[in-house]
Amino acid sequence: MLAEKQVVPFSGTKEQEESLLKMISELKGEKGALMPILQKAQDIYGYLPIEVQRMISDETGIPLEKIYGVVTFYSQFTLNPKGKYQISVCLGTACYVKGSGDIYNALMERLGIVGGECTPDGKFSLDACRCVGACGLAPVLMVNGEVYGRLTVDDIDDILAKYE
Ligand code: FES
Repeated sequence: MLAEKQVVPFSGTKEQEESLLKMISELKGEKGALMPILQKAQDIYGYLPIEVQRMISDETGIPLEKIYGVVTFYSQFTLNPKGKYQISVCLGTACYVKGSGDIYNALMERLGIVGGECTPDGKFSLDACRCVGACGLAPVLMVNGEVYGRLTVDDIDDILAKYE
């Protein structure tokens, strides 16, 4: 399981690593420190790639398998970075019955990633979301909060072209 594919290569900076190590040394003696350490590590890096999990394991002595289990169990943690352009496809009921599932699938195919991932160039990340309160425009997707509605699969290329 630890070999899960990571689409975007890890590129943490020296400053990020220093912040991480300092934060861990402040927290690691405390009871139940793992959750706050993971939260703060995600604040530093924006996500929790295996390289960061390994550093946390090395510094705390907590087995990497345990850290990985916690990171993948809680939805607040993510193994993948967000893209420069974050695409959210609404899979709420109104959008879903009007075909947002097809749009989501077509985007995964077009971008070559699955939901929750980011393209290798860091440009687009893709997620599903619940109702965003624009059901009258169903089916809906958002790119960095900008709403596109009454979509068909054929609209996808035009929308992506605006950001490419
Ligand atoms: S269900 Fe998609 S906006 Fe409401």
